[in-house]
Amino acid sequence: MTKIAIIGYGVVGSGVYEVLRTNASHITESAGKPIDIKYILDIRDFSSHPEANLFVNDVNMIADDGEVSIVVETMGGLEPANSFTRLMLSRGKTVVTSNKELVATYGDELFALACQNGCSYYYEASVGGGIPIIRPLMNCLAANEIESIAGILNGTTNYILTRMFSENVSFESALKEAQQKGYSEKDPTADVGGFDTGKKISILSSMINGHKINHEDIHTEGIASITLADTVLAAKLGYSIKLIGSCKKVSDKYAVVVAPMLVDKASMLSDISDVFNGIMVRGNMLGDALFYGRGAGKLATASAVVADVIDAVKNSARPFRAPWTKAEKNVLVDYENIISAMYVRSKPQSKASIDSFIADNFGADVKCECADDFTAFITPAAPIGTLKEKLTKIPAEVCNMLMVLE
Ligand code: HSE
Repeated sequence: MTKIAIIGYGVVGSGVYEVLRTNASHITESAGKPIDIKYILDIRDFSSHPEANLFVNDVNMIADDGEVSIVVETMGGLEPANSFTRLMLSRGKTVVTSNKELVATYGDELFALACQNGCSYYYEASVGGGIPIIRPLMNCLAANEIESIAGILNGTTNYILTRMFSENVSFESALKEAQQKGYSEKDPTADVGGFDTGKKISILSSMINGHKINHEDIHTEGIASITLADTVLAAKLGYSIKLIGSCKKVSDKYAVVVAPMLVDKASMLSDISDVFNGIMVRGNMLGDALFYGRGAGKLATASAVVADVIDAVKNSARPFRAPWTKAEKNVLVDYENIISAMYVRSKPQSKASIDSFIADNFGADVKCECADDFTAFITPAAPIGTLKEKLTKIPAEVCNMLMVLE
């Protein structure tokens, strides 16, 4: 029997409880022994919970209990999750987390602490909700050099974009729905502003770099600039628009960016809608692989947490290896030097003037589409800074510019 504790009984923590109770016999069989919840830490009142006896509000009861070998941290946010995680790891308890903010910010230090104390720090649920992505990257794709990762990594914004532009729901209503379904962060600006995606792509980028890539250094744009005109024009040009976290290896550096991007209708990422996430990984031997599934939500995310708990039980004797260590040098390509095609939506002075600007600057083959007063076209790929410089001379009011996913 393995005794565990859950710290934080919110959406994901209560999901972990439910998964463990619902699938108890299957989980026992997978882990090779029963997994017993000894404590649930949460300062709120759960006296009417059917297992109210499990709830405690003193973290030291768990830290001091030698019987508890695995702690599930589903509090989210930096504090007190950071202090509690350090406390547990320093006592030799393996910690399993869904907390991308903590992994992205202090993962390097927490992995090192786990190594020092002969325990492990698992984080599968921190990226892609219920989708297996961390373990496949670490194990199944280990023979490949990873050349690029591009993903729809935020369920809330994908849900909002789908509801707004396919189903004509207002931004406010779509966000409210995402909140009610338990998809969004406590502060939804983390979703809408792209920062949640930034943390997730920083985790994946750090894994392939082997050293920390700081989420705060990643160029990050949210979905606020996307209008119905953009989705109509993008569709006419043959694309959909998705919030993408992307990381591409460029010799010994990485071009990492979070932004709403045009995604070619031929790409498998283009049709991923609602709360679903999709992560396209390109290995130098494998080529492309797509990981797809529910990127947020109680039971989907909890199932990834419980899979980590099972792995921790099965591999308790295996030494833990840090997936990345502290940052060594700046490995990020400057945003202005990232090479990309750009979609440009503008209100031109006249169709003839913009046609001749496009032909002079980008060639005669550039396709252009119009809707209402707007014209949109896609530039050839070039450093973003160079494209922006050229576009300062466009005879039009530029309304939006978006990267095009390669
Ligand atoms: N707010 C996040 C999302 C939760 O919408 O994807 C899962 O990390």
